[in-house]
Amino acid sequence: KQEAAQEASAPQPEASAAAAGDREYVVGTDASYAPFEFQNDKQEIVGFDIDVLTAVAAKGGFKVKFVNTPWEGMFATLPQGDRDILSSAITITDERKQSMDFSDPYFEARQLIAINKSSTDVKSFQDLKSKKVAVQTGTTGDEVVQKLLGKTSANIKRFESMPLALKELESGGVDAAVGDNGVVANYVANNPQQSMVTVEDTKSFAPEYYGFAVNKGNAELLAKINAGIKAIKADGTYDQIHKKYFGN
Ligand code: ARG
Repeated sequence: KQEAAQEASAPQPEASAAAAGDREYVVGTDASYAPFEFQNDKQEIVGFDIDVLTAVAAKGGFKVKFVNTPWEGMFATLPQGDRDILSSAITITDERKQSMDFSDPYFEARQLIAINKSSTDVKSFQDLKSKKVAVQTGTTGDEVVQKLLGKTSANIKRFESMPLALKELESGGVDAAVGDNGVVANYVANNPQQSMVTVEDTKSFAPEYYGFAVNKGNAELLAKINAGIKAIKADGTYDQIHKKYFGN
């Protein structure tokens, strides 16, 4: 009992850090993923994920600094200690859970197909079976397309960012692109040529849930993030941010 009392009164490193100001965490994000994370005219990193995590941090009592980080290799930055949090529209999957820890889900997404307007024969995901399809490497879009076309299919064209995959479609190098609905829809809608359309296939694609990722075992940071998510969902902040980016 006495020992415990002594321990409690001894200055805790964390407590002194808090006194010196909230701890700042380095957040990795692939800022080529509008409207979730992208760079504005001033080259600032902005987007839905940025606003959500910034609000979460304010509630959770910590600070965040966003650093543009390529999607490929991003997951490894957690165990390397280069990033504390990943905020990058990351789908929580069982496989990924083996190597990192995820916050509670903060967004629901689904895969969406983009095609050129001329490809009238593509009405469902199945119709892509013998087509050339562009994806962002190592995403859940890549995974579902692998299931349809086969892991080693030469018809899967992989790109390091989603805009590059969609540009390939635009220029006719592939027949379709598959990726997260919010990003694919945003790109197709804002494309000046208006040459592409989206094909929804809710039967072929399961819902996916985005989470913020931390290094495996970092329960303390995860608890702060989850507390923040809960708080911004309860007080309307989350809904406000959702409205700002998605209009509803
Ligand atoms: N949600 C998809 C996944 O987790 C794609 C995420 C890609 N994010 C990005 N910022 N490039 O695989």
